[in-house]
Amino acid sequence: MKQIAVLLSGRGSNFEAIAAAIADGRLNARIAVVISNRPEAPGLETARALGLNAVAIASKGMDREAYDKLLLTELAKYNLDLICLAGYMRLLSAAFIRAYPMRILNIHPSLLPAFPGLDAQHQALAHGVKFTGCTVHFVDQHLDAGPIVLQAVVAVRDDDSTDSLSARILTEEHRTYSEAIGLVLSGRVRVEGRRVIALSPLEEKPK
Ligand code: GRF
Repeated sequence: MKQIAVLLSGRGSNFEAIAAAIADGRLNARIAVVISNRPEAPGLETARALGLNAVAIASKGMDREAYDKLLLTELAKYNLDLICLAGYMRLLSAAFIRAYPMRILNIHPSLLPAFPGLDAQHQALAHGVKFTGCTVHFVDQHLDAGPIVLQAVVAVRDDDSTDSLSARILTEEHRTYSEAIGLVLSGRVRVEGRRVIALSPLEEKPK
């Protein structure tokens, strides 16, 4: 069974969607640990309620390298195939990314490379785009920038507020993230430069 870790900082609805996909058999994986840099994150409480291994490692006041060392020490306890950032609100250090090359995924609420960074849904509305959405991508050393695994498109309505648009994007996030995790864990992808290419069954690597 493939093992994943989920890193979060807040609400944790993407984490819940991943846990639900595993519970109902859509995603074949095991959540070895849920870690939050904010001990008060509601997502941690949800993880505990689900009987999962939930670990708080407070990041307040710590510099990136020192914090990531703690994180790496915790993660090294598990035999992880993939680390999934789900609303994890900290940049990862180069050392962290080197430790898990092409084994870290993130979800972002826009069609990257449009609107990276904070408040992507507000940025999309303010720019006046007619379509936005969400992106699951591998994490590299740049913010919201690594090779794209899957995207989903959401139409912007004339009467949208940031909240209404965010809610429709979130529905797509929940669907897309589990699908992308399943795809990457299955080994049915090949990364060529920036392009993530889904393999046909004939090209599949032996497991
Ligand atoms: C999501 O919109 C995700 O795309 C972004 O942060 C938000 C986290 O929401 N990276 P949740 O904590 O998963 O509910």
